[in-house]
Amino acid sequence: MPTLTILVGTMYGGALDVAEQVKPLFEQAGYKVDISEQPTINDLTHSADLTLFCVSTTGSGDFPGNFVSFVRGLQEKSPSLASLRYGLIALGDSSYGETFCGAGRALDALLEEHGATRLGDRLEVDAMETFMADDAAVPWVEEWIVAQQLKVA
Ligand SMILES: Cc1cc2nc3c(=O)[nH]c(=O)nc-3n(C[C@H](O)[C@H](O)[C@H](O)COP(=O)(O)O)c2cc1C
Repeated sequence: MPTLTILVGTMYGGALDVAEQVKPLFEQAGYKVDISEQPTINDLTHSADLTLFCVSTTGSGDFPGNFVSFVRGLQEKSPSLASLRYGLIALGDSSYGETFCGAGRALDALLEEHGATRLGDRLEVDAMETFMADDAAVPWVEEWIVAQQLKVA
């Protein structure tokens, strides 16, 4: 059974809720799903078949506290991520202006720099428009699984 790892970066739990809500969708599609709430780059190098990031933004375009060491590890160890295929759900709030989804966007750029391949577009969930991020994330994941032909079961 292929594995999907969901790496979560969250301050207040919204991104973790998203991970927990989309987990059964991947299970139904034939994946064993692990959610990592304290991600490290070992989560990438001991590679899953597929990786999904659920990452919110804090401060002024900053990574959530639990995600900082993951990003630092990526910058310092600079592993090749040529075999990494990932999806990205960024949580943010457009009232923060230019730093909207800053962490998710920075993560996406960093993964690309390291040779990883994003499947499909990044989802950006705007708290100004969507009170519960899962309301946007669940249908997006349903479509993503179909569009990227991820179903294995
Ligand atoms: C102190 C603080 C700073 C924030 N800074 C930003 C920001 O710079 N850009 C942005 O898009 N959202 C920002 N947000 C909004 C959060 O990213 C958004 O509410 C998100 O849904 C929180 O997800 P979480 O519960 O997983 O932490 C900020 C929220 C707080 C409370």
